[in-house]
Amino acid sequence: MSEVIDLQEMRFPLNHGTGKIPALGFGTLIADLPATVAATENAIEAGFRHFDCAERYLNEREVGEALRMALGSRKISREDIFVTTKLWNTNHRPERVQPAFDGSLKKLGLEYLDLYLIHTPFAFQPGDNPDPRDSNGDVIYDNGVTLLDTWRALEQLLEGGRCGAIGLSDITLKELLPLYEAAAIKPAVVQVESHPYLPETELFEFCKEKGIVLLAFAPLGHGIRPGLLEDPVVLSVASQVAKTPAQVLLAWAVQRGTAVLTTPKSAERARENFNIAPLPQDAFEEINRIQTRQRLNRVVQTGVPGFIPSVR
Ligand SMILES: NC(=O)c1ccc[n+]([C@@H]2O[C@H](COP(=O)([O-])OP(=O)(O)OC[C@H]3O[C@@H](n4cnc5c(N)ncnc54)[C@H](OP(=O)(O)O)[C@@H]3O)[C@@H](O)[C@H]2O)c1
Repeated sequence: MSEVIDLQEMRFPLNHGTGKIPALGFGTLIADLPATVAATENAIEAGFRHFDCAERYLNEREVGEALRMALGSRKISREDIFVTTKLWNTNHRPERVQPAFDGSLKKLGLEYLDLYLIHTPFAFQPGDNPDPRDSNGDVIYDNGVTLLDTWRALEQLLEGGRCGAIGLSDITLKELLPLYEAAAIKPAVVQVESHPYLPETELFEFCKEKGIVLLAFAPLGHGIRPGLLEDPVVLSVASQVAKTPAQVLLAWAVQRGTAVLTTPKSAERARENFNIAPLPQDAFEEINRIQTRQRLNRVVQTGVPGFIPSVR
């Protein structure tokens, strides 16, 4: 097996359930609905088998449409793909968890999910409005439920047989520690922003020690320029290994042992972002030595992810 195949096909075992998560994942945070279907189809065609969805992206139906088309045409089978979705902040009350899970499954048109994440540790006012705000425009939080209450409801989902594994997203190590200690079933995956400007080393070390997969979003720095895609070290490594800056950043993320999410929209970029190969050790270490530090997404402080579609 060539090295190229290794990173593309790498799967990490999960600490509960039987599934393995493909290291290279396709993220579905795409504002435009027809573009969601097309981009998901392109991703499948390019070889992506891990799909990261969310109730809050308001496009589970469209992602499901593309997945079902591929499953129907027998291009892929359900066992080949790994599908995640996330519980939104307005559904943290335990009695709202199962209905939210069922609603996502129905929209995706699937029989089961491989992974279900709590999208953020912040509970918002429960209800149908995903973005509840007061008259000043400030988010209305819900103090009547704890993260552990919500986690316990996710633990129960595992008993139903339609949820393969559970985890968290947009959480800091400080918040993760008490949840981890109290949890009967430990999180299998933690999804956070991570890239060479935000390596999240402490959180990553904790996850490795506990067998939790760290799933990095914004590996390309959300494509913001100037930024990671134009970082001089990344550019120099790209020319050294004859790969694009995006391929270098994705390879670095998988090579260090994190799973990763990227959202190419065109067929060409989907092929580019899937076509990654290991970096030589010296190039890998050069990227490790980048000193710039930058967090792009304030979701861990507020529960409001950036780059998210407004209410449709
Ligand atoms: N848990 C959370 O709160 C959270 C927050 C954010 C994201 N996520 C997840 O993470 C996924 C990944 O999102 P991301 O923004 O982090 O993705 P990303 O792949 O780091 O960035 C996407 C941006 O990079 C550009 N891009 C993609 N491939 C490129 C390439 N080969 N060369 C140059 N530019 C390229 C895209 O441009 P074009 O649009 O022009 O193609 C887009 O602007 C999301 O879809 C979502 O599933 C989770």
